[in-house]
Amino acid sequence: MKRDEVFRDPQQQIVDFVFDETVAAAFTDMIRRSVPGYEVVVPMTGLLAARALRHCASQAVYDLGCSLGATTLAVLRASGDDSVQINAVDNSPAMLERATELISDDRVNFVEADIATLEFEPCAVVLMNWVAQFLSPATRLEVLQRIRQQLDPNGLLIVSEKIRFTNPDEQTYCEQAHLDFKRANGYSELEISQKRVALENVMIIDSEAEHTERFHAAGFGSVQKWFQCLNWASFLVRP
Ligand SMILES: C[S@@+](CC[C@H](N)C(=O)[O-])C[C@H]1O[C@@H](n2cnc3c(N)ncnc32)[C@H](O)[C@@H]1O
Repeated sequence: MKRDEVFRDPQQQIVDFVFDETVAAAFTDMIRRSVPGYEVVVPMTGLLAARALRHCASQAVYDLGCSLGATTLAVLRASGDDSVQINAVDNSPAMLERATELISDDRVNFVEADIATLEFEPCAVVLMNWVAQFLSPATRLEVLQRIRQQLDPNGLLIVSEKIRFTNPDEQTYCEQAHLDFKRANGYSELEISQKRVALENVMIIDSEAEHTERFHAAGFGSVQKWFQCLNWASFLVRP
């Protein structure tokens, strides 16, 4: 696994973060050292997806923002079922090129597409692990509505995100504790601050209440926060 050194050296001008070849090469290390709970949420996503698949006629799964396919692999491992069909979607050619090298399985169809305009087919499970935060806020509700229209009545949507707290004390506390997590994982102050600037206009964070309201506005009946570590949470969303 290549060590993430994307923001190691001082940059004259910090440009907006993109999921390009440099990021794709170091992505596994980057996300593990940056997202608290990643190594719990990904395999649990597989198990939760497999459970939902057992109760649905459709065996179609969407892994939206699949990156290198970690979540897709978790579903394959947990479902142990030949009939599952995973559409692993990303709009980064660099990510998809590496993902296709890592996963060669007839049950997985890699799709280069923008989630904002993706046409969904009937499906049992939709997984959005740390991707909704990168969609333009104006498109987020519409994407959820399109997912809701195609999701099996017994189906499942999982959305994992960084969240913002409306209480300023909670926000400061969790933000600082998250920085401690990154320092403990070997990131320097320079790396942390340069990445923060690069993400500022790209990763737009919603509060738990905003997520919950949007899920209901899109027509989902049940929203359960099943995981949280500091300012990182995951929601189980059902019709
Ligand atoms: C933080 S990563 C997701 C990690 C991944 N789900 C996992 O479990 O390892 C976000 C991914 O979403 C992709 N992405 C961002 N915006 C997108 C969009 N509008 N359409 C499709 N993919 C998008 C990025 O290219 C990137 O690979």
